[in-house]
Amino acid sequence: MRILVLGGTVFLGRAVAQQALAARHDVTCAARGSSGNPVDGVRFVRVDRDDPAGLDALDGKFDAVVDVARQPAHLRHALASLAGRVGHFTFVSTGSVYADNATVGQRADTAPVLPPAPRDAEDPSRDAESYGSCKVSGERLVTEAVGAGRAFVCRAGLIVGPEDPSGRFEYWVRRAARGGEILAPGTPDDAVQFIDVRDLAAWIVEAVERGLAGTYDGIAAPISRREFLAAVVGEGAPLTYVPQEFLAKYEVAPWSGPRSLPLWLPVPEYAGFMSRDVTPSLAAGLRPRPLAATARDTAAWLTAVDAGSAPGGRSIGLTAAEEAELLATWHGSSGPDLYPR
Ligand SMILES: NC(=O)c1ccc[n+]([C@@H]2O[C@H](COP(=O)([O-])OP(=O)(O)OC[C@H]3O[C@@H](n4cnc5c(N)ncnc54)[C@H](OP(=O)(O)O)[C@@H]3O)[C@@H](O)[C@H]2O)c1
Repeated sequence: MRILVLGGTVFLGRAVAQQALAARHDVTCAARGSSGNPVDGVRFVRVDRDDPAGLDALDGKFDAVVDVARQPAHLRHALASLAGRVGHFTFVSTGSVYADNATVGQRADTAPVLPPAPRDAEDPSRDAESYGSCKVSGERLVTEAVGAGRAFVCRAGLIVGPEDPSGRFEYWVRRAARGGEILAPGTPDDAVQFIDVRDLAAWIVEAVERGLAGTYDGIAAPISRREFLAAVVGEGAPLTYVPQEFLAKYEVAPWSGPRSLPLWLPVPEYAGFMSRDVTPSLAAGLRPRPLAATARDTAAWLTAVDAGSAPGGRSIGLTAAEEAELLATWHGSSGPDLYPR
């Protein structure tokens, strides 16, 4: 098949291009080239999607397009430029489209979504809050333009694995390598949900080949934090679970950023964010690998990053000093081991 990846210079887009190539497709990637380099073997066309005519440089027909756009304007430009020249269209959306983050076990086909972004608030690079509603706009634009029978809307959840530039999963892999007492957020029964980038990419390529249409969550089934940490930091690692109220009091941020604990979100407000029912996605071919394999491969990638031979990840989370201070405060203040091993 002739496949166009709009993006393809970083993480998921690169992985899709890589897997499409491995499946012997003819792959074109179109991007500016500022986020990174496309994989060897693709045809790379340098484009700027801020320019409404930016994609006019792409010639011919494509059996399928995979687009990771965040800005509705980029989709409008693409859908106009490629009108009549594309078959199947995969739009990589996000779990941030959902309006209800609290209810556990929601499904993509029935969960309510945010309203689309207003036309004057369509740039999530300027306003991060608009990210989810811009993706809602994108989903609608694609489905209306290519028709529901040819559109695969893939709402990715947290994407993890080698080459992840976000640093979120990386925090736990690096934390495992450092050893010592580990501060674990919340409770061992909290739900944690994510997808290995390679599994998501493989599913997208398979969806393209099969012409899968419809709206699905691109994420593995949820597991408990206990299972997550056992696979990533090790069964016997000395974990100290610290409740979310303590973390909030000492200004530890959830999810991402400095002084944060990645993959932790406060409950009950976000109890639904990492506990989605993905039965339809698994039935439609998504095949998540064991978490231990993702952790092992991410550790190997980080070793290469640290040796300077690969593009770098980003460190977020707690510094060693912050974590030690928090643990000392926890043990000194109330100190109970809430979940003894
Ligand atoms: N990471 C997660 O955990 C997560 C979670 C949920 C959903 N998602 C979604 O999953 C997808 C991830 O995609 P990704 O990993 O490939 O990363 P990305 O950061 O979304 O990539 C954006 C791509 O678009 C290109 N691009 C951006 N602006 C452009 C412009 N003006 N003109 C041309 N190309 C432009 C970038 O290339 P250049 O900069 O080189 O031009 C890059 O290849 C996104 O749709 C994201 O919203 C991610």
